[in-house]
Amino acid sequence: MTVKNPIALTLSGVSKLYPGVVALEDVGLSIRGGEVVGLIGENGAGKSTLMRVLGGATAPDRGSIELDGESIAALTPAEATARGIAFVHQELNTFTNLDVAANVLLGREITRGPLGVLDRRAMARAVEPILQRVGARFGARDSAFELSLADQQLLEIARALSMDARLVILDEPTSSLTLSETQRLLEVIAQLRDEGVAILFVSHRLAEIEQVADRVIVLRDGRNAGELGRGEIEKNRMVRMMIGRDVGQFYDKRDHDAHAPVLQLRDVATSTYPDARVNLSVKAGEILGLAGLVGAGRTELALATFGIDARRGGEVLVNGVPLPPRSVAQSIAMGLCLLPENRKEHGLFLDFAVSENVTLPSLARLSRRGVVDRAAERGLAETSQQRLGIKVASLDRAVAELSGGNQQKVVLAKWLAMGPKVLILDEPTRGIDVGAKAEVYRLMQDLANAGVGILMISSDMEEVIGVSDRVAVMCNGAIAGILSSRDLTEESILRLAVG
Ligand SMILES: Nc1ncnc2c1ncn2[C@@H]1O[C@H](COP(=O)(O)OP(=O)(O)OP(=O)(O)O)[C@@H](O)[C@H]1O
Ligand SMILES: [Mg+2]
Repeated sequence: MTVKNPIALTLSGVSKLYPGVVALEDVGLSIRGGEVVGLIGENGAGKSTLMRVLGGATAPDRGSIELDGESIAALTPAEATARGIAFVHQELNTFTNLDVAANVLLGREITRGPLGVLDRRAMARAVEPILQRVGARFGARDSAFELSLADQQLLEIARALSMDARLVILDEPTSSLTLSETQRLLEVIAQLRDEGVAILFVSHRLAEIEQVADRVIVLRDGRNAGELGRGEIEKNRMVRMMIGRDVGQFYDKRDHDAHAPVLQLRDVATSTYPDARVNLSVKAGEILGLAGLVGAGRTELALATFGIDARRGGEVLVNGVPLPPRSVAQSIAMGLCLLPENRKEHGLFLDFAVSENVTLPSLARLSRRGVVDRAAERGLAETSQQRLGIKVASLDRAVAELSGGNQQKVVLAKWLAMGPKVLILDEPTRGIDVGAKAEVYRLMQDLANAGVGILMISSDMEEVIGVSDRVAVMCNGAIAGILSSRDLTEESILRLAVG
């Protein structure tokens, strides 16, 4: 398959202001059919905003768009779609009450008869080949409700492909995919490029950019910070252009003394894998990595341990004291905290201010006789903002206005502010830029040094190996093996992960 009419697109002088924030200032970008352009920059640099301008979702304040030789002031989403620009958003928008085919063909459903009844069979037939093209392991008639985040990501890409896109815009498509799924997606991208599709690709995983991009455009504080051609794309060079300095030591292996177990799982079963029993213990001062393929049951285990989901049996002990099943309040009271994978669902109140989101679970500690000490609350929010470098015009702005990576930092800040004894982190650095990543690793290590036990779920192989003291690998809901730090390699982890 080749694209008949490859796209030629140039943006110039694009600016976009939000209250108190210059999201984009005089930005230019060009892309044509048959190339993969990587777009990189720190959290809040303006990547998603620029993508939204291209996709017609955000009207720029200034600037012009030249598309196939024609000059346009701004695109609407409908025009963008009609001209072959497909946009996969950073925050997924899967309709979980529909099946896969209906999600892929959203707004373009196939009907039959005078009443326009949905022709589900025809829809499934149209969608199956596209699912194969993205290597999906789910079918067109499956309910979208059952899909993991990784599969939802593939579904969105299938939706873009179903519209005969000439330009596919991917905003952090791999942030919730594991190694093997990422590789498959990168292959799909390369194949589309060879067919003449233009791909604009945002990622904080610089290794992927190195692998797949023909050209890299760097944004910094809403401005163009330079461009790299094929032979120039190299990690340290990208980092310097993004943040203006080197990141220095990324991982810092500690010589630590692990002590008594602070978190123990005894024969814990989840409803996803009711027949598997998990035994695991996290010691004070230890960072225990939890690796595995998507679907191995890591997030389910975290949710059941913390008490968001019911357990199907077994015991969870915090400092030797058993936790009642399904009680989040009890978990928090005992010092067990969870940074969830899906921040929109479990982590944030999007319409609330940044400061409120950070301090909400700590209010009891900040109150005297039931009255919140506002100055202390403010102080806590400000300290957290500085520690994690949360980029926002004011702490009073709603979390919904923050860039994706900065939202993730708010979730982290909230749990760190509570002074946890045991911390479960589910993909803690997903969507976070390289500079902030190094900062998060330092924070984790400070916490561990202070005696906190950390269970870190991560699909980022480099991170699992670099940060963990030991790694437990899950496969089909069970622990397939535990590796000590001297046995930690990508191969040893993958071998256990695939069973
Ligand atoms: N709807 C909005 N209202 C107010 N400010 C916004 C809005 N959307 C984006 N911003 C601000 O514009 C800036 C750029 O945000 P953008 O989402 O483009 O960053 P990004 O480069 O995609 O970051 P990330 O890597 O974290 O996803 C940020 O400071 C953000 O807070
Ligand atoms: Mg973004």
